[in-house]
Amino acid sequence: MTKSIKGILIYTAIVLVASIVYFAYAYTTYPPTPERETFLSEIGEGFGEVGLWALLFIYARSVLKLVMGKGAFAKRILPDYSPPATASIFHQLLGFLNRTHVYVGIATVAIILMHIVLMGVPMKILFFPAVLALVVWQGLFGMFLTWRYSPRELKKFSYLVHAQFFTGIMIGIFAYFGHLLIDD
Ligand code: HEM
Repeated sequence: MTKSIKGILIYTAIVLVASIVYFAYAYTTYPPTPERETFLSEIGEGFGEVGLWALLFIYARSVLKLVMGKGAFAKRILPDYSPPATASIFHQLLGFLNRTHVYVGIATVAIILMHIVLMGVPMKILFFPAVLALVVWQGLFGMFLTWRYSPRELKKFSYLVHAQFFTGIMIGIFAYFGHLLIDD
């Protein structure tokens, strides 16, 4: 196992354990949030579901890139890996996913923000402000990466903080435990 994959697994375990500890604290401290069945919250639920699929779609591209040994990310994480002789359909699929990532990314950020606004998420449960900040963070540095007037240094930094799994792991784990606290 390469050092980077080991690092990601250790990082995931740390985030998971910290989240379980905070979950136990919040579960015993805050009264359960009653589910609201308003017109807006029903629409908000739909946005949440679409947002989840959009995130899975985005990270499916990252996994496909890894499997095909494409990109600096794959080189860093799997330095000695030579990709299987992949059928061109996967190359075409990856090309399509690469070309559409910016639009899918912007739509994902907008959808998740709509979900949060419409549901009226309890911000005192820290999982939620954290997810909000991380999604805005991904969107912001994605924009700096794409914007052609970004200075070189900012682009480099943006790539470092945007094109990785660390924020995605936090978004997934925090959103999961946050929802456990408010869904019955
Ligand atoms: C929640 C939203 C987003 C997530 C989770 C996300 C995730 C990622 C990840 C994991 C990568 C690198 C790994 C890979 O190549 O697949 C990446 C690359 C990139 N993202 Fe995003 N992204 C999001 C939104 C955006 C937005 C809004 C923009 C631009 C406006 C953007 C622009 C880019 C660019 C330019 C790259 C590097 C080039 C490339 O790999 O295609 N992303 N993103």
